[in-house]
Amino acid sequence: MLEELKQANDYIYSKLNEKNTFFLELEEYAEKYNIPIITKEVKEFLRFLLSTNKYQNILEIGSAIGYSTLIMSKTLNDNCHITTLEIDKERYDIAKSNFKKSNNNNIDILLGDALDIIPTLNKKYDFIFIDAAKGQYQNFFNTSYNLLNENGLIFIDNIMFRGYLYKEYPKRFKTIVKKLDNFIDYLYQNHDFTLLPFGDGIGLVKK
Ligand SMILES: C[S@@+](CC[C@H](N)C(=O)[O-])C[C@H]1O[C@@H](n2cnc3c(N)ncnc32)[C@H](O)[C@@H]1O
Repeated sequence: MLEELKQANDYIYSKLNEKNTFFLELEEYAEKYNIPIITKEVKEFLRFLLSTNKYQNILEIGSAIGYSTLIMSKTLNDNCHITTLEIDKERYDIAKSNFKKSNNNNIDILLGDALDIIPTLNKKYDFIFIDAAKGQYQNFFNTSYNLLNENGLIFIDNIMFRGYLYKEYPKRFKTIVKKLDNFIDYLYQNHDFTLLPFGDGIGLVKK
């Protein structure tokens, strides 16, 4: 099954062809400096999903160099406002400069721990994208859920953490694996939730 999933992903990859040179540059930069960004098939799905709705206010937890932020903004023709949160100063600076290079003035990036920043936000969002420290996913969800509008969507990337939720994993990840597994149980039991088995696992919650 795993081998088939990989083959399916390879097949999808073979069909995808990013033409935007700035996005290609960011992909190369991320690969060169080992910065985790959304995978190609997640990017494709995220684009498709966003294009089916008029999302106006987006909250992103985990900007890295601003790649997924810019993908989301571009998908919505920059007719949206994105607040994106990043804890790492160096990545924050790079993301900020990438937003400037692409002339985006619809994006606010805030530096700090999302768990400290989210309670200070006094806005509501139609779409929340969670893509930061896996061990904090339940906390990111709990603190941001109240900021989600009715009919809004939360997109949780990498929720199956490199497949370690269903296959053997290095002992050092035991706590994160347990937390994510409990989080998935919590979401199934308490929310309108679905789990998609591609990328690193995508969780979707509808309010
Ligand atoms: C997977 S990367 C984000 C990738 C980005 N969304 C993309 O696809 O282009 C996760 C980022 O979350 C940041 N991060 C981790 N814990 C955080 C926290 N508590 N608050 C804010 N950012 C955090 C990390 O520094 C890292 O840059």
